[in-house]
Amino acid sequence: MRKALKTLAGDLRKHLRSQDEGEIILKAAPCKKRAAFKTPETAPAADKAAVLEGLAAQIKTCKRCALGQTRLNAVPGEGNINARLMFIGEGPGYEEDRQGRPFVGKAGQLLDKMIVAMGFTRQEVFIANMVKCHPMIDPQNPDKRGNDRAPDGEEIAVCRRYIERQIAAVSPDYIVALGGVAGKSLIMDAKSLSAIRGKFYDLQLTEAALTKPVKILATFHPAALLRNPGWKKDAWADLKMLLAAMGRTPPSKEV
Ligand code: URA
Repeated sequence: MRKALKTLAGDLRKHLRSQDEGEIILKAAPCKKRAAFKTPETAPAADKAAVLEGLAAQIKTCKRCALGQTRLNAVPGEGNINARLMFIGEGPGYEEDRQGRPFVGKAGQLLDKMIVAMGFTRQEVFIANMVKCHPMIDPQNPDKRGNDRAPDGEEIAVCRRYIERQIAAVSPDYIVALGGVAGKSLIMDAKSLSAIRGKFYDLQLTEAALTKPVKILATFHPAALLRNPGWKKDAWADLKMLLAAMGRTPPSKEV
């Protein structure tokens, strides 16, 4: 009896630890065998949706870093779970914090135009961020405008598990990293955006397993394009290169 109770307590501890680490327990696996991640190729569509919904639920209650204390809403990301193309930004801003959705402010409106100019709809792609909660210059005043800042290295490191698991679950062919923060974090290259943009890299993950190669391309963040419209030409050249690699005819008009 005592031995049985000990085993039960051990199993319970393991279960709670796995929940805390955000691992997905394979339903069909025998009790003691659990997989850290269920691969999208082997997972039916319903399970893939469940993985992403599970991640979104964890993100919404996450308090792993200080951003989780001051956010109004976490912003897990959204889109087509079977997307061939994923866009990844740095983190939610003022509007995203209010709506709980990625890229819905001014930068988001430009991103929407870029997506349409590429011949896609927003519903066809998956959009997410490196960090899921609004990084603020003055976290005591979430209502202040102009309060956005880029996430720091520690915030990105703490949140990395989520974006990596989302990438592994969606399993896109291509990722566009929007801006230097997302580009340098995902390409794991400390160089500037200008040094890494305009070429494809093979994505490497550290906290989830890819089941097929994923190419990543870094380009300008739409917010940077709003500040510097002269950079749009270069951003468009990057996106046209991506479309060619995807075997799609790039529309002739620039954004
Ligand atoms: N900027 C980002 O990087 N992400 C958003 O969701 C909005 C603005």
